[in-house]
Amino acid sequence: MVHPIFWLVFLAHSFQHSVKDEFGAVNHLIGARLNSNVDLVENVGDHIVNAGGKRLRPLVVILSAMANDYRGKDHIVAAAVIEFIHTATLLHDDVVDASSLRRGRNTANSQWGNSSSVLVGDFLYSRAFQMLVEIGNIPVMSSIANASNLISEGEVQQLSYAGNPDIDELMYLEVIYKKTAVLYEASASIGAMLADCQTKAMADYGRHLGLAFQITDDVLDYRGEVDTLGKNIGSDLRDGKMTLPLIYAQGSVSASDKALIRDVVMKRQSKSFIEVRELVRSSGGLEYSLEVARKQVLLAQDALAVLSKNVYIDDLIDLAKFSVDRVL
Ligand code: IPE
Ligand code: IPE
Ligand code: MG
Ligand code: MG
Ligand code: MG
Repeated sequence: MVHPIFWLVFLAHSFQHSVKDEFGAVNHLIGARLNSNVDLVENVGDHIVNAGGKRLRPLVVILSAMANDYRGKDHIVAAAVIEFIHTATLLHDDVVDASSLRRGRNTANSQWGNSSSVLVGDFLYSRAFQMLVEIGNIPVMSSIANASNLISEGEVQQLSYAGNPDIDELMYLEVIYKKTAVLYEASASIGAMLADCQTKAMADYGRHLGLAFQITDDVLDYRGEVDTLGKNIGSDLRDGKMTLPLIYAQGSVSASDKALIRDVVMKRQSKSFIEVRELVRSSGGLEYSLEVARKQVLLAQDALAVLSKNVYIDDLIDLAKFSVDRVL
């Protein structure tokens, strides 16, 4: 189940009401297409999928399709495809990040081990591509194939940057574009593609929304609450990752504090984690990052200005704001 606080926050925004039936159909399809003859696949798949998750990317697919007046049924399948790809990246990401908590539950890797997580992640990826072929729309296939490839590249790039304190804001933005924003960009674009409409405005919306979303995720890693977030806190610093709050802190603290940050990132020595976390908080790194994220929200909302107004566009506008205001 999704955490109850989430639904309180989520429903307060109400951007899901206009597509309630479609959203229900996507959730049903996700459950139905997890099927496998191998129990381990179904057990791991059920564990992560039924733990909930915000389902923001499928929501973007549906809202984008309906905002563009799409009348068919393929947006339901496309939304499920996107959530399967997202879930596959989470299974792999939790192995790479050695995380033990996800969606308020033990991660699949902590319950079944890394091998099961990696392989079921592959199962979900390939199931997503089977379903994509069922849609049979080449631009949609191309968008999702490219997004999947860039996500993998972004995760590898981030891995190669781990432990390097010289990663700057530009390098950080490139990584988060690939690992996170590109899937939002594809989600928003494919709605318009299915409706045979121009995709640029939707692609711009999705890209900016995705950047805002990941910057906020990186802020929550410093200041979120484990119980609300349902994930481990402080894991980016522990993994030696220069996310935006830390990049800002490094550039604004005293020379000795800067040396401490560099040392912790390079050696990942746990005894100074709390001290560095406090430095990030007191440096204004969290406020700075949220300011950058809010600018991305405005850019996302501005991108939609060229489209004719309707209730779905209004929901996309609200959803962009939610990506930064959220607590999980
Ligand atoms: C987590 O995404 C991975 C990131 C890109 C930060 P979400 O926060 O959307 O995860 P769920 O699906 O709601 O659990
Ligand atoms: C995840 O980034 C990006 C993915 C492509 C999965 P994070 O590693 O920050 O995501 P969380 O915090 O574990 O959800
Ligand atoms: Mg992670
Ligand atoms: Mg990660
Ligand atoms: Mg994170």
